Amino acid sequence: MRAKEEKMETVKTFNISELNENIPEKSLNKKVCVFGQGFVGLPLTLSFALRGCNTIGVDVDKNLVDEINSGITHHTEKFYDVTIQKILKMQLEEKRYKAVTDAAKAVKECNNIIVTVGIPIKDGKHDMSYLESAVRTIGKNLKKEDLIVIRSTVIPGTTEEFILPILEEESKLKAGVDFYLAYSSERIAEGNAFEEFANMPTLVAGINKPSLYRAVDLLSVVCKADIIISNSIKAVETSKVVENAQRDVNIAMVQEVARFCEALNIDVFEVIRLANTHKRVNLLAPGPGVGGYCIPNAYHYLEPKAKELNVDLDLFKLSREKNRLLPEFIVNKIEEQLNNVGKNLENSKVAVLGLAMKDFSNDDRISPPIDICNILIRRGALVSAFDPQVPTEYDFKVKMQDEALKDADAVVILTKQKGITFDDYEYMAKLMKNRPVIIDTKNIINETEAKKYGFKWWRI
Ligand SMILES: NC(=O)c1ccc[n+]([C@@H]2O[C@H](COP(=O)([O-])OP(=O)(O)OC[C@H]3O[C@@H](n4cnc5c(N)ncnc54)[C@H](O)[C@@H]3O)[C@@H](O)[C@H]2O)c1
Repeated sequence: MRAKEEKMETVKTFNISELNENIPEKSLNKKVCVFGQGFVGLPLTLSFALRGCNTIGVDVDKNLVDEINSGITHHTEKFYDVTIQKILKMQLEEKRYKAVTDAAKAVKECNNIIVTVGIPIKDGKHDMSYLESAVRTIGKNLKKEDLIVIRSTVIPGTTEEFILPILEEESKLKAGVDFYLAYSSERIAEGNAFEEFANMPTLVAGINKPSLYRAVDLLSVVCKADIIISNSIKAVETSKVVENAQRDVNIAMVQEVARFCEALNIDVFEVIRLANTHKRVNLLAPGPGVGGYCIPNAYHYLEPKAKELNVDLDLFKLSREKNRLLPEFIVNKIEEQLNNVGKNLENSKVAVLGLAMKDFSNDDRISPPIDICNILIRRGALVSAFDPQVPTEYDFKVKMQDEALKDADAVVILTKQKGITFDDYEYMAKLMKNRPVIIDTKNIINETEAKKYGFKWWRI
């Protein structure tokens, strides 16, 4: 069903005050609180605030809450040309947004509650405790007529089999009668959050029709694309995990294509470019690994339910394993290249450019570049890494690109990043030691220039 007929927000230049002046009447009365103020939760709450809702962002991390309330966020999101920093400051000033740690009070003050608290994976095992704690707090403070929309990525079955019983137990209210419950998968990519909340088709299912209708009404405040409804919460939960898992499989496959092309002495990126001209083919790019909160976790969200149902997921499992081993593979390639110029990995200085888990991001959670740095250090290399967008401090991180490159034996490009430049080969050669080596996992090397200034290289 198309729940909304409005056109997508296609404006290229975006004017916040214009949006402010055109706030629809129904948004103004909505009180929305969002549990979790991380990569998804903060821009999502601000998206509701921007459209006139009174919003509260709830998080257990007091430092994060204080930082956000003072107008600081490290996220690199933008809504068209307006940075998330500017949007945050504006919504704080207009008092349409605040961050809090007092979750109980926030639930009491709002009748629309959205959950973006995740299920972390540690050593392949899922940890429900964060989500459980959020849901128990919501249950304890729930009022009649409240709506809860789960937007976290979950193990299929979680909303109906885990969350619903907790909410009923804690609130002593009846789901679907006294309060409303729905699941809507979150499909944004970091860096495009504001735009994709608005323009990505949004999937939703409710535990009954009133829950579904309330959820569609709420989601339509922000989503201007189709809101696609399903009568199965488990189908929406599963589709989200499979959307992520298919990228894991795709990437594992293109890594094999890359090895095949290398042996055949052809360019894998040219092969991908050609294959992707087919309308029904979408090969992703090979790289230094698969990172972030979404893709590497996907198999681990499918696996517990598959086990319970006695279903094999061999292809997903193998893809995950292959991708998990990529950082080790890249380190082996660095060692091989150093050996080729008569150097050992041990005691060689390796300049690492890019620490984020993907290009143009500040997110270094489950980041292959961080794994690569740790493996290099474990194997005796001296690592000097540069990424101006990642705020996390590491012993091996330096503040300037030149500092990373100075006297380095090898330079490894792991993420494309604002503030990282890779075009002055003469200058880089002067900074680095003799017989410099480049390991390019991002297809950015200019081979003619690299050759001119005496570099040896390996490109993925
Ligand atoms: N990051 C993405 O690009 C993305 C995209 C789509 C879906 N998702 C899904 O969205 C969810 C959130 O992801 P994220 O990247 O924003 O994670 P995040 O780690 O950035 O944010 C989660 C926040 O929840 C907070 N939290 C933990 N327990 C809490 C509690 N009991 N009450 C309130 N807050 C609590 C944490 O302190 C943290 O700030 C996950 O399920 C993830 O899989 C993420």
